[in-house]
Amino acid sequence: MDLGVFIPIGNNGWLISTTSPQYMPSFDLNREVVQKAERFGFDFALSMIKLRGFGGPSEYWDHNLESFTLMAGLAAVTTRIRLFASVAVLTIPPAIVARMAVTIDSISHGRFGVNIVSGWQKAEYEQMGMWPGAEHFERRYDYCSEYVQVMKDLWSTGRSDFKGRFFQMSDCRLGPIPPKPIEIVCAGQSGRGMKFAAEYGDYNFISGGGINTPQTVAPFAAKLREQNAQTGREVGALALTMIIADETDEAAMAKWEHYKAGVDLEALDWRDTQAAADVKAEKTSTVGRMVHAPEKLPTNMLRLIGSYASVAKLLDEMAEIEGLRGVMLTFDDFLVGMEQFGTRILPLMKCRAERPAIAA
Ligand SMILES: Cc1cc2nc3c(=O)[nH]c(=O)nc-3n(C[C@H](O)[C@H](O)[C@H](O)COP(=O)(O)O)c2cc1C
Repeated sequence: MDLGVFIPIGNNGWLISTTSPQYMPSFDLNREVVQKAERFGFDFALSMIKLRGFGGPSEYWDHNLESFTLMAGLAAVTTRIRLFASVAVLTIPPAIVARMAVTIDSISHGRFGVNIVSGWQKAEYEQMGMWPGAEHFERRYDYCSEYVQVMKDLWSTGRSDFKGRFFQMSDCRLGPIPPKPIEIVCAGQSGRGMKFAAEYGDYNFISGGGINTPQTVAPFAAKLREQNAQTGREVGALALTMIIADETDEAAMAKWEHYKAGVDLEALDWRDTQAAADVKAEKTSTVGRMVHAPEKLPTNMLRLIGSYASVAKLLDEMAEIEGLRGVMLTFDDFLVGMEQFGTRILPLMKCRAERPAIAA
């Protein structure tokens, strides 16, 4: 099972709470996280792009670095781990992103890939006059398909004459072309999103939910397998998972209860109002799951909460899920959590026994 880390490019990571660790994003923080991940043998690190936070007393995600420039810096201070940056496709033309990717691929010596963000939060784009209107919700994966096709043309042949509904290229050039294909990752949970991933991606992120319920990702892995069968491509499913660990199950659960007590309802309300704008969203899509969440929690992400041994066991259970290629981890506290993961959890994981960390 591959291991990745979703690095904290935005303040407070993935817990919408005033009682969870409060911190600002910085290059130094992310460098430390990624260098630890590399030392512990992680396969990849990914940063998101978020252009507008949710506010509230925790100022949730009001502070975010930019994804490509952060990954360029990280490419220069790592040697082995694969790195993915995210592009909000409405904000930068594909020929520019193709060139940015080639540049970071060169800095990293072939370790770079791109996460395609179709856009679900109108305010991020509207604030810059870049929101095309509500019709974007329905056509966003058509837009992404053309976008990625232009980049693939440029990366593979150095030119594109693509003529589509959204993009028209006229002898558009790119050089140097990358020595090997630059990987594309996607994060669609909706049927259309998964179809896009199966057509254009190398990996697709999937998300389960609940506490210590790894099997909640299985239906999404199955859905992706169905889409793969249609396209005949092998797009790997990577499950987004939060780790909250401690010496005992009780101590770990007490941390979660503490974070829950401080849930930032104001920030959540703002997020859910944004999500509700996509009125035709499926219940299982990203925004559908926000709007229909039964409880207001600091995160809806699948959480593995427990002692180091319990978390290792749950991850071994995940490794058995058919079609699951790997997990991408988040932590309540990234520096402490990553260290605990590498020194206490990883050595207990049977599914990683063949792939020990480079150095303790
Ligand atoms: C691992 C992961 C990474 C994501 N990265 C971003 C991101 O960088 N920026 C963003 O706005 N949305 C991000 N999203 C949200 C997805 O892009 C969103 O789920 C996408 O719009 C898919 O929508 P769908 O579920 O309707 O198919 C991410 C989601 C996941 C699971």
